[in-house]
Order: sequence, then structure tokens, then C-alpha cells
Amino acid sequence: MKRPKQRQRALTAKSADKYDLYQRSVQSPESDIRFLARIYQTARGRPATHFREDFCGTALLTTTWIKRGARYTAEAFDIDPVPLAWGRRHNLAPLGNAAARAYLHQKDVRAPSKSPPDIRCAQNFSYCVFKRRAELMQYFRAAHKDLAGKGMFVIDLHGGPESMKDTEERTKIAGGFTYVWDQHEYWPVTGETKCYIHFRFRDGSEMHRAFTYDWRLWGLAELKDALLEAGFPKVECYWEGTDEDGTGGNGVFRRTRRGENCDSYIAYLVGLK
Ligand SMILES: C[S@@+](CC[C@H](N)C(=O)[O-])C[C@H]1O[C@@H](n2cnc3c(N)ncnc32)[C@H](O)[C@@H]1O
Repeated sequence: MKRPKQRQRALTAKSADKYDLYQRSVQSPESDIRFLARIYQTARGRPATHFREDFCGTALLTTTWIKRGARYTAEAFDIDPVPLAWGRRHNLAPLGNAAARAYLHQKDVRAPSKSPPDIRCAQNFSYCVFKRRAELMQYFRAAHKDLAGKGMFVIDLHGGPESMKDTEERTKIAGGFTYVWDQHEYWPVTGETKCYIHFRFRDGSEMHRAFTYDWRLWGLAELKDALLEAGFPKVECYWEGTDEDGTGGNGVFRRTRRGENCDSYIAYLVGLK
């Protein structure tokens, strides 16, 4: 006999889990990993096997990397034990024995890996916690030194005039909640920005400031210069294409030399060792 379908209880600020909401609204691990694996394969003519995820939070990218198969291993770094524990329980544990191929470090991203990674990445602009250039350089130099011989260091970034605007962007997410990206303040002289993520629910409740970002908004050209100065002999930029109605990104990133002068863009910088 077919069991009656259980009605899913609507999410509210009280019942929801902020890491689950974050992963569902912000991250696209499959396409990110496909992109990283593709650019490594193209540049080096062989697949990358050892992966390192910096500022990993719940280690969702690491989990997705491990799922590629038995030869794939990973390390992930975050200073906060709370998202790490959440990721161990909800992302890695369901993989069973395969989870042993991932090692989660509760450490600063400037700490060395257990073994040199082929690909090392810092996603969702997290390196912007380094507000002073000296700190950013320390991080980039450590990343360069720690990579495998033909390794590749990848960071993403948000740029264009809109990235400096005080604005609130709302996106409805399947499952009954709204993700709110709140660019709360930006100071031109210091380049500092304060952003929040809020989650709003159908019952009118809100998880206010579920996540806070106290950042320096680094520009693309200055990041590129910093990577070159940190020792990467070659730095490439990948630019997102435009969607069909011409209003947003299409999730497809291609190499570019000059980019495109648009109000808001997401790009990747890739430092090749
Ligand atoms: C925006 S979350 C990134 C989550 C996930 N990686 C993503 O792409 O969406 C930033 C994470 O960086 C961590 N973090 C901040 N400073 C750090 C540092 N110096 N070393 C290691 N982790 C750090 C925080 O604890 C937080 O979990």
C-alpha cells in the first residue's frame, strides 16, 4: 500500500537551519567543481586529484570533490568549528567510508596543507576578510608556496559599480524562503564594506543577519597584481557570460584579457604555478 505523502512543514525563522539555507541559496557546488576540474585539465593536460578548499565553512565543495571517485582527495580549512562540525555531520558523513578521503582543518587559511594541492580555491570572496594588503600578500604567498608543482590557485570576485552600492537584493529560493543579500555600507577611502545575509519566510518571520561580512572590497586589477607579486608567473581571468535576456550572468565562465565594462560582474582569477 502506498503511504500517504507527508506534508512538509513550512520553514520559519525558528525551524530553519542557517547553514542549510546558506548552501541552498548561495552555493552551486556541482558547477563550481566542474569549472575547476575543467580549467585544470585544459591548462595541465591531466586531471587534478588533490583539492584544497579555503574558508570552507560547511565543506560543501570538498564533499562534491570527494564524490568524483576513489582517486580524489581533499583538505578544507576554516577557523570556525561550528560550520566545520555541521559539514562533517550533514555533508561528509552521508558519504560513508569515502569521507575519510577528506581532511577538515580547524585552522587559519595561511596554514600549510598535509599534502600539496593541485587545485586550491577560495570561494565567495572570503579572502576579503584580509583588509590590509600585507595580510592579503601573506595569504597569497602561502597559497603559492603550498601548491603542488603544476598547481593552480583560484579565487572568485565581485566587481563593478554595483558592488559598491548600498543595496538589498532579494531572491526567492525553492522550498519557501527568500535569500536577501544586504550590501549595507561601503567606504570609498578604505574600501571597507559591511554586508549581511538575511532569510525571510512565508509566515513573515526573518532570520536577521544570519551571516555578517566585514570585508575589504578588493578590485580585480589589484588582486591580479597581488597574485603576480606573490610569485604566480601567470594569472588568468575568467569572465561570466550574459544570460539570454541580457540582464544577468549565465554561469558560464570563459577566459578573457580585458573583461566587459558592466555594472556588476562575477569573475575568477587563476594563479598558475
Ligand atoms: C563566506 S563563508 C564561506 C563559505 C563557503 N566557502 C562558500 O564558498 O560559500 C567564510 C568562512 O571563512 C571563515 N574564515 C574567516 N577568516 C578565516 C581565516 N583567516 N582562516 C580560515 N577561515 C576563515 C569563516 O569562519 C567562514 O566560515
